[in-house]
Amino acid sequence: KKCEVSEFLMPGMVDTHIHASQYSYSGTALDLPLLDWLNTYTFPVESRYKDLDYARNVYTKVLKRTLRNGTTTACYFATIHTDASLLLGQIADDFGQRALVGKVCMDCNSTVPYYKEPLKECKDETLRFIRELLKKESHISENKEEVKLVKQLFPDCKSYTDVYLKHDLLTDKTVMAHGCYLSDEELKIFHERGAAISHCPNSNLSLASGMLNVRNVLNHKVKLGLGTDVAGGYSPSMLDALRRAMDTSKVLSMQDAQHQTLTFEEAFRLATLGGSEALSLDDQTGNFEVGKDFDALRVNMCIPGGPVDMFPGQGPKVILEKFLNLGRILYICPVALSM
Ligand code: GUN
Ligand code: ZN
Repeated sequence: KKCEVSEFLMPGMVDTHIHASQYSYSGTALDLPLLDWLNTYTFPVESRYKDLDYARNVYTKVLKRTLRNGTTTACYFATIHTDASLLLGQIADDFGQRALVGKVCMDCNSTVPYYKEPLKECKDETLRFIRELLKKESHISENKEEVKLVKQLFPDCKSYTDVYLKHDLLTDKTVMAHGCYLSDEELKIFHERGAAISHCPNSNLSLASGMLNVRNVLNHKVKLGLGTDVAGGYSPSMLDALRRAMDTSKVLSMQDAQHQTLTFEEAFRLATLGGSEALSLDDQTGNFEVGKDFDALRVNMCIPGGPVDMFPGQGPKVILEKFLNLGRILYICPVALSM
């Protein structure tokens, strides 16, 4: 029997933090904490992107996979290699995904010394890459060991946030991933500077890094989106990021009865409009407001052999404008979350 309502449209999802260069080993290397994980798995793999054929193969697969998962906008990390990073931008453009691509800068690496660039080359290559420094993306306060290390490396800075602040890297064009251990004082600085946070719950759980208190970030009015953080996060799916954000919030509620759990609507907003705000793209995408580009997903709940079953009475739930700041009404099927 045909479903009564089998299709709906929803805004495309915005992945605010994904390492395209790490996709090849996602789901296979989650047995170490962050710093050991970077040295053992990440840096040796990322060093291979000097080879443009290698880069083209993985980056093409990343683009196909993220699009299949409903990511219409993504903020990618590439590697230190300028030409491969430019290639990622070209491939995203060819596939029609709205992408921000960042070339990685790393001038010290004692454990994997062949994967780094001298500072001068880093600066020159970054200028060749972007010509004009507009957006800045990095990681902050992800795990306790890393926070400790940054304290040792920058003893004159008051906090991890202060390190970026002092180096003019905390602006309204900045997106920082994680932020699990940011203090209220640091969140205030994020708010004042207009800098955004990318919440990557799968990564935070998979690498046992920590749990971001999203409610506290929202209370500080800091721009916030969701990220998959492949391959710290094992899934390239933003629907997975949305689920993990809900899980994390529920764990925080189990630990603290006062904690106000995220609602599904709030998590959905983070995966769409919140992400576009974090990337300063909310004038173009994130919801169906008239005047924005129509970045939409058409979801069919009843395709033969599809991943979910529909039952009588499971019609669409109408989420009104007041929930999502949408210009129009969005119909979304509650069972979509069980895909
Ligand atoms: N911190 C520095 N580099 C990385 C990375 O590649 N992934 C994650 N999760 N954290 C980082
Ligand atoms: Zn990351």
